[in-house]
Amino acid sequence: MSDSNDRESKTAWKPAHRIARRQFLKATALAAGGLLAAPAVLRHIEVAQAADRTEISFASAKFFGKSTVAQVVEAFNQSQGKILVKYDELPPPSASTEVHQGLVQRLAKKDGTPDVFTQDVVWIAEFAGAGWALPLDEYVSADEAGQYFPGVLAACRWNGKLTALPWFVDSGMLYYRTDLLKEIGAGVPETWDQLVAAAQALMKAGKAKIGFSWQAKQAEVLICDLVEFVTSNGGAILGPDGKTVEITKPAAVEAVQFMYDTIAKHKISPPDVRSWDEEPSRAPFTGGDAAFLRNWSYVHPIAEDPKSSSIAGKVGVAPLPHFAKGKSAACLGGYQYGVNAATKNRDAAIEFLKWLSSPETQLRFAVELGLAPSRPGVFDSAELGKAQPFMQTLKPVFVGATARPVTPKYAQVTLALQSAVSKAVTHGNVAEALGEARRKLEQIVA
Ligand code: GLC
Repeated sequence: MSDSNDRESKTAWKPAHRIARRQFLKATALAAGGLLAAPAVLRHIEVAQAADRTEISFASAKFFGKSTVAQVVEAFNQSQGKILVKYDELPPPSASTEVHQGLVQRLAKKDGTPDVFTQDVVWIAEFAGAGWALPLDEYVSADEAGQYFPGVLAACRWNGKLTALPWFVDSGMLYYRTDLLKEIGAGVPETWDQLVAAAQALMKAGKAKIGFSWQAKQAEVLICDLVEFVTSNGGAILGPDGKTVEITKPAAVEAVQFMYDTIAKHKISPPDVRSWDEEPSRAPFTGGDAAFLRNWSYVHPIAEDPKSSSIAGKVGVAPLPHFAKGKSAACLGGYQYGVNAATKNRDAAIEFLKWLSSPETQLRFAVELGLAPSRPGVFDSAELGKAQPFMQTLKPVFVGATARPVTPKYAQVTLALQSAVSKAVTHGNVAEALGEARRKLEQIVA
């Protein structure tokens, strides 16, 4: 009995499988004889593969570094023969509004696609509240749940249910040029005043075209930066009750004034920062033109790779500076996995979810894409210490990061804040712009 007959007799092939398998065998036999054009053979093989496996779709923002999400998904497809994941690539996370829209459009259809998706930490409440994210409690044992940072796992719960599984923790940090600071005999700045002084000195000495690169574009990242500036002055966007709006209190007003002043008064940030999100702000730093950069951890592998950076070996990373009366603050970012509540392939979706969130896959994302693990076991591992030592040095920054407002209405909250803060950093009318934000926020979160 041939191998193929043997397999067919042991396996309960459905009719569709039979046809596909016959097509596959015919196609490979013909291909071996060189009788079919290669593209036609490949099409037959694809049909066969798709029919033999449970096909699920996976929608995720596009992350990149030394490898991409697409390559990681491909590794899963290669690692087993039961499930075939089709990757539905959304824009990069810096295009947060577009990624959010893309997910909302897909999930609101409730047709089961995508089966698995990734979501920014700020959308968990909204997706859970809408009933789009499958509660995962029955698939995650207490022992498994205990393998994640408790704070990150807590952010994956809404109304007592676990509706997401942690992927990576993100937090804002300060990148600096070790060589340039040494040249002017300056230490790593701990306060914003020290950063201004060092940046101005380096610009004056002609050692840096840009003192401080950050992201003031009217986009989600502006709110991440806002959280960092405001919290590092002891202020907040909302009070601890999640309803009292604190954005017009002096601590917040002073912090937003400083955001404007980096451009207009201290002139350490070019007016261009008003149109920069993550990548445009990263480029002058890794290109050797900027002394300081506020960004996420994904920048580190890019900055230290001579293929993508002219400053490899001269990169330092530290907690962000703070105001005289405040403490350093990092915004809590990061994406999490979710399963579509309407999936028609629950078992396959859960199996892929478990693989994605496994220690091995988290380590790969950390080493190749600079995405910090949400499992302390991986975070503290010797492998990660060797590949990305800065993550372990900055562990308190990751685990102590400050969340953006947690509410199912976050999408409205952020748009109101983005519009107001963008006006403030463009025109400098800080009190007026924040007053407008306050009125809108009071209506949204009341
Ligand atoms: C990063 C963060 C995410 C944040 C986004 C803003 O991807 O992980 O939480 O919303 O940046 O651009």
